[in-house]
Formats: sequence, C-alpha cells, structure tokens
Amino acid sequence: MGSIESNTLLFSSEFIDPSVADSLAPDYALRALKPADYSAGFLQVLAGLTTVGTISAETFNRHFEFLLSRPGEYFVLVIENLLTGKIVATGTLLVERKFIHECGRVGHIEDIAVDTNERGKKLGLKIIHALDYIGQKTGCYKNILDCSPHNEQFYVKCGYSNDGFEMVKRF
Ligand code: ACO
Repeated sequence: MGSIESNTLLFSSEFIDPSVADSLAPDYALRALKPADYSAGFLQVLAGLTTVGTISAETFNRHFEFLLSRPGEYFVLVIENLLTGKIVATGTLLVERKFIHECGRVGHIEDIAVDTNERGKKLGLKIIHALDYIGQKTGCYKNILDCSPHNEQFYVKCGYSNDGFEMVKRF
C-alpha cells in the first residue's frame, strides 16, 4: 500500500447513524470506506450495480486519497460482514454546495449496491437511512437520486417519492 494507512476511514464516525448501526445484526458493521476494503470485496459488490472495470490497488488508493482530501463532500458507506470480513453493501452521498437556496446543500445518493447473496435483508434500506442521516447532519435541505423504474418501489419503501424525470447525454 502507498502512503495511506489501510485502516484510514474516509470520514468520521460521528456521521454514522447510531440507530441504523444498532439495528444491524451483531455480525454486521456500518462504517465509512477504508483502503483495506479494496481487498474485502468492495468493488465486487459495486460490480452488482454496473461495470467497475479493472482497478489496481494503487489506483484505488489514489482515488481514496482524493476523496479524503475533500472532507464533507464524499461519504462512501459500507456494511461489513464481520464473520467473513467481506463488504456486503455500499452507498455514497455526495454533498453538493449550491448558490441557490442561500448557498444551500443537496445530497446526491449514488452507487447503492448490496451483495447478491445478501439482498432482501433490509441492508439496502439501512444504507439509504444512513445516507439520509448524513444528508441531515451535513445541512442538506434534501437528498435526491436517479434510479431505474424497476427500483422505484425500493426507494418508495425508503421514504422517497418520484419527482420527475432523469435526463442524460452520454459522452
Ligand atoms: N422493487 C420493489 N421492491 C424492492 C426492490 C425492487 N427492485 N428491492 C427491494 N425492494 C423492497 C423489499 O422487498 C423490501 O420491502 P419490505 O420492506 O416490504 O419487505 C424493501 O424494498 C427494502 O428492501 P431491502 O431488503 O433493503 O433491499 P436490498 O437490501 O435487497 O437492496 C437494492 C435493494 C439496493 C436495489 C439491491 O437489490 C441491489 O443491490 N440491486 C442491484 C444494484 C442496484 O440496482 N442498485 C440501485 C441503483 S440506483 C442508485 O444507486 C441511486
């Protein structure tokens, strides 16, 4: 590993929702991403969402250091199965600082994924609730996300409502 210590947390544990953490089974832990998660299946969980591609440990660590250098902006959460040491769920909140609404902040929920073997155990719901907590704690006036129609009801169960369309131009 490069200059960064493998157990460095991306953000402080004060941003971890205690009620969500307490609601997990004892062999699961909710925490910030750390460099060691590269070898603990973090990218494999994300691959259940979309293409991840090939990322070397060096590239992973460089990217982690970039995120670390932007405190208050990138919150990558994980749930670890403490029995296996593997990451079983993840989700990200990106805090955008706007000019509108008196320089208000909006939380963008991104890259939600639960390991295929761990779906249906409310881990996805808990990740969203934990990201809602971070949004509130960082002063966001709302959290928003884009999703496929087939995931709409999952987000409804997490307390979200359909508020329009997603538009895209791919480059
Ligand atoms: N459609 C309808 N309902 C759903 C769906 C769905 N696709 N997924 C879950 N639910 C329901 C569950 O049945 C449950 O309902 P209940 O409370 O009545 O029992 C509730 O939503 C909570 O479900 P969880 O158990 O928390 O869901 P899970 O842990 O399986 O995670 C997730 C759901 C994240 C969608 C998972 O299936 C997954 O990783 N899918 C592949 C990646 C993906 O599509 N991620 C979302 C991309 S969008 C984004 O990142 C902003």
